[in-house]
Amino acid sequence: MFRNRAPLLSFLLLCISSGVHACGDHEHGKRALPSSPLTSPSRPLEWGDINILHTTDTHGWLLGHQKASFPEPNYSGDFGDFSSFVSHMKTIALEKDVDLLLVDSGDIHDGTGLTDGHPPGGINAHDASSLSTKFLMQLPYDVMAIGNHELYTYANTLDMHTNFAPQLKGRYLSSNANITVPDKHGKPISVPVGERFAKFRTRKGRRITAFGVLFDFTGNDKNTTTQRVSDMVKEKWFRYAIMEEPDVFLLVGHMPVSEDNWPLVVDAIRAVHPTTPIMTFGGHSHIRDCIQYDGHSMGIQSGRYMETIGWMSAKLSIKQEKNTTFSRRYLDPNRVTYEYHAGRSGAKFDTYMGKKITRGLKALAQRFNLDFLFGTTPRDYTLSQAPYPSENSLHSLYIEEATPGALSINNTRADIPRLLISNSGLLRFDVYSGPFTKNDQLSASPFADRWLYIPNVKLSVANQVLNSLNQVGEEHRRSLEEEEERAKELYAKGEIDAKFKSWLEEMDKRNGPERRAAGNLTLGYVTEDSCPGTGDDTLHAPLPYHRVPDFIQSRAPDISPDSPIDLIFVDFIEKQLVGILNRLQTDRAYASSDVQEYSKILTNEVLGVYAQGAWN
Ligand SMILES: *[C@@H]1O[C@H](CO)[C@@H](O)[C@H](O)[C@H]1NC(C)=O
Ligand SMILES: *[C@@H]1O[C@H](CO)[C@@H](O)[C@H](O)[C@H]1NC(C)=O
Ligand SMILES: *[C@@H]1O[C@H](CO)[C@@H](O)[C@H](O)[C@H]1NC(C)=O
Ligand SMILES: *[C@@H]1O[C@H](CO)[C@@H](O)[C@H](O)[C@H]1NC(C)=O
Ligand SMILES: *[C@@H]1O[C@H](CO)[C@@H](O)[C@H](O)[C@H]1NC(C)=O
Ligand SMILES: *[C@@H]1O[C@H](CO)[C@@H](O)[C@H](O)[C@H]1NC(C)=O
Ligand SMILES: [Zn+2]
Ligand SMILES: [Zn+2]
Repeated sequence: MFRNRAPLLSFLLLCISSGVHACGDHEHGKRALPSSPLTSPSRPLEWGDINILHTTDTHGWLLGHQKASFPEPNYSGDFGDFSSFVSHMKTIALEKDVDLLLVDSGDIHDGTGLTDGHPPGGINAHDASSLSTKFLMQLPYDVMAIGNHELYTYANTLDMHTNFAPQLKGRYLSSNANITVPDKHGKPISVPVGERFAKFRTRKGRRITAFGVLFDFTGNDKNTTTQRVSDMVKEKWFRYAIMEEPDVFLLVGHMPVSEDNWPLVVDAIRAVHPTTPIMTFGGHSHIRDCIQYDGHSMGIQSGRYMETIGWMSAKLSIKQEKNTTFSRRYLDPNRVTYEYHAGRSGAKFDTYMGKKITRGLKALAQRFNLDFLFGTTPRDYTLSQAPYPSENSLHSLYIEEATPGALSINNTRADIPRLLISNSGLLRFDVYSGPFTKNDQLSASPFADRWLYIPNVKLSVANQVLNSLNQVGEEHRRSLEEEEERAKELYAKGEIDAKFKSWLEEMDKRNGPERRAAGNLTLGYVTEDSCPGTGDDTLHAPLPYHRVPDFIQSRAPDISPDSPIDLIFVDFIEKQLVGILNRLQTDRAYASSDVQEYSKILTNEVLGVYAQGAWN
């Protein structure tokens, strides 16, 4: 996902106030023991001739989700557990004498303390990402594809090109993403970040032709190049690569399986090979999804943040007039799931390599001091499970309690009445009850922006600003077409929050209250996709979903409407805010010269500072 702090409307502002931001988080440290036992998967997996495990959009969540509040225990498996699982599944595949592959659809950067949490003054963010991504290489991935989060910062792309890709020996795929590097003579040349495609044979000798396709992404850094999918399929190299018929086309890529451009790739292949099985593994919008493009193809998408492991199997029939039989499943990554499907438990489950990976991840977390404890969170504060405003809303906590509290410390203006405004996209992940660590802070609010203020704004005027900010869309967007155009533009830059949230909202609306009330289901994802049968491995009731406006504000001071106050806001809405003030009143013309810094504390430090005082 893209750095979502600014809402749709402030698109332009968002593009100026830049920096690459992450999208995940994770908790780490001691593994929280779930307060109730984890539910088992509902049924065994359906194995075929070729079986594929899928990760996507891991965003550094390699230590798994470590909080005790549900649904987090559902996703409590760490990458060491996953490694053990994969190795047992490989053994089962050997016993069944079938193929088992492992693939990843990209976005391995940005999202947790492991990727973002390098110590100040120490190694830089690029090294930090490099340190955490190396754990991925310790699993037997057959194909990995590039994601947009590998392309926001040139240094990261270069690291993928020079260090990561070579270790995958031709299986790190970037069919339509290039990097510019100096050639032997120091002249810049554009080359694929990894390989454009790969042809290989499975253990059982099946021929695979694989691609790594990125959606039409425009937010990439200088000296990286992306190509539209529609142009890619016209390339000579592509047409040449698909000419020879393999047993299976393996499309792994950073692109949602529905409502995006996979059909362009499938159709290009179908023009040459009408019935060759095509197995597609997408990503990017962080949802679970499945679609069949025709009777011989299936595409799945396996969520985000190590909250889902995808599974697809295919029975390869000789008779091509019959449809190919596929199955798909979305697994909750935890030890109960892993042990159930691997048929091994306890000490028999952990492999040497699995334990080594877990130890390595914990050592890295320690090196980054991610366990540093700010305080103990008294209850769960979530982004969308509780209504806004309410006592369990993270947005309420942030703007009504934490920010006013943190900004009062050592501040000579703290006694002057004030109103604080921020955008809701500043917050990225829930804060659950229990220890609140440096890692939790990085996860919940990673974006470093300054708090600015304008003094002596009349309370009655300040009180109208929030409404204007939240309505700016209606004033400016004249038509549905224009709105769609903006959404498209944002999407091309990498924004997917809107899609992810509407997925959550839809699953809650469908039958959330009934399923939760039944009381026999635990909370988690409830997927409805267009493939036959049920996709979720463990059956859940959906989490409640509540919408939050684009902008949020603190409680107004209880003083007369004419009183002057400090109007405090996040730096990247400065222009917009000055404009709104000048529309709301005519007593004076505000300009950027009226704007001053309110505090040295940045937006991403607020929760930690607050926790040190209030939660200790
Ligand atoms: C998921 O979370 C629920 C609580 O909502 C828990 O009881 C359940 O066992 C978890 N499922 C799995 C497979 O871990
Ligand atoms: C791109 O890379 C080339 C070759 O390394 C370098 O000369 C050039 O300055 C870079 N351009 C930008 C905009 O960074
Ligand atoms: C990517 O690199 C290849 C190989 O150098 C080059 O032929 C191609 O034009 C580049 N593609 C783009 C979109 O820059
Ligand atoms: C094969 O799959 C296609 C597309 O999913 C479907 O329309 C068709 O009915 C299927 N044919 C058979 C024989 O199942
Ligand atoms: C406030 O000032 C004191 C004394 O100078 C200092 O120790 C403390 O770190 C400051 N607190 C914050 C949050 O800046
Ligand atoms: C849960 O309870 C509902 C309503 O009583 C029932 O229809 C459903 O089958 C139960 N689900 C499971 C997984 O036990
Ligand atoms: Zn992502
Ligand atoms: Zn992405």
